[in-house]
Amino acid sequence: MTPSATPVASPPDKPASATASTATLSFDGRSYDFSIFEGSEGEKAIDFSKLRALTGLVSHDPGFANTGACKSSITYINGEQGILKYRGIPIEEIAAQASFLDVAYLIINGNLPDSPELDAFVGEITRHTMLHEDIKSFYRGFPKDAHPMAICSAVVGALAAFYPEYTDPDDTEAEGAIIRLLAKLPTIAAYSYKHSIGQPFIYPRNDLDYTSNFMHMMFSTPCEEYVVDETVADALNILFILHAEHEQNCSTSTVRLVGSSQANLFASISAGISALWGPLHGGANQKVIEMLENIESGYGSAEKFVEKAKAKGDTTRLMGFGHRVYKNYDPRAKIIKQACSDVIENLGVKSKILEIAMRLEEIALSDEYFISRNLYPNVDFYSGIIYKAIGIPVNMYTVLFAMGRLPGWIAQWKEMRNDPEFRIGRPRQIYIGPVGRHFIPVQQR
Ligand code: CMC
Repeated sequence: MTPSATPVASPPDKPASATASTATLSFDGRSYDFSIFEGSEGEKAIDFSKLRALTGLVSHDPGFANTGACKSSITYINGEQGILKYRGIPIEEIAAQASFLDVAYLIINGNLPDSPELDAFVGEITRHTMLHEDIKSFYRGFPKDAHPMAICSAVVGALAAFYPEYTDPDDTEAEGAIIRLLAKLPTIAAYSYKHSIGQPFIYPRNDLDYTSNFMHMMFSTPCEEYVVDETVADALNILFILHAEHEQNCSTSTVRLVGSSQANLFASISAGISALWGPLHGGANQKVIEMLENIESGYGSAEKFVEKAKAKGDTTRLMGFGHRVYKNYDPRAKIIKQACSDVIENLGVKSKILEIAMRLEEIALSDEYFISRNLYPNVDFYSGIIYKAIGIPVNMYTVLFAMGRLPGWIAQWKEMRNDPEFRIGRPRQIYIGPVGRHFIPVQQR
């Protein structure tokens, strides 16, 4: 994999936050003006930060669907048009040319590294891939069938105990923690798999690149070296890049919220891994494959499954479809679909589930239910088919999502901690419980 030759990201044409106009809220016979400001890609927002102080009202926005929780210069998404950019660069350009660590540097530091910067960054990460030997003993305490997401979240949180020097609440750069997290997460992840199958842990190899080293730790044994296929390493590289950052999704918001108490980076990322696990978020990639395999093993046809996903009162969803922000084809899914066909062809494998997935997509995209709700394939729809083709076990899929998303979480944590508007995250609520009750001693209840 060659480092990207793309020029350094240029600064936005327009300064963010240029005030455009005001919005007036009329309430109880009084009017209040709130300024409207604009992001660098023209997205407008009302500044409600003084809403309660001025009016006594709070905003009620379940699921935060209309809440801009922060200003950020990391990622731009236009969900209506299906656009995704990291630090101003279209995802299509990045996915076609970059290596994952090149992208990690871009996301975390704001600009593409030049060659010496990239070498230094990769060198640092490569030299910190081993885990402290005492961490290995943690794994013995987990049951063999423990989900690797549970293990990864726990071990990442435990890194804070091994590197207390990188947990200072005043350290908003967290350089030491950043390098260790990027370096060690693949090792932590691979060890969780080795533990589940009862094989010895395999030490990292510094002569391999990031994705090849991960595959080596997953599949080599002391008796036999696993030779990493270039198709496999490249497929993982693209998948990691496409998962690397996605602004204020559930896990990233979790990382920011936890970090807003000035909790250290290890603790914040551990919380992010837990948030990612859910089937409505990163856990969807595992659920997609389970869905496809159920259909394949005679659960019913693709047509029947789509009918079930549409039925009122049935909680079944077409996993890997729909997105809070994308109301168009997820640009990541487009790239992954192509990569998926390439991998299947290059490895010369037959994939019945790829055929089922393509059939499901075809049915859904011409069905009124999905059309009217703007439901399209998301990043998780085709990624699992690649993971399966390259031999990754199903319960590791969401772990691979976490490995890909790590640079995004780190960048968002750092940006939040260095934001001049930084405050602890603390949403309000509207209390709807009982009123006017009194305490009754237990003997009188
Ligand atoms: N299958 C069937 N119906 C769906 C689906 C789906 N996958 N997704 C949304 N809908 C329906 C939903 O029932 C609702 O219909 P109605 O208006 O009749 O009640 C409407 O579409 C709007 O859905 P919503 O749940 O209000 O949308 P949301 O923005 O709150 O949820 C979502 C977004 C991704 C959680 C949801 O689309 C979903 O559950 N998808 C399946 C799980 C999935 O693939 N998750 C991965 C998301 S992308 C990567 C990531 O974030 O990790």
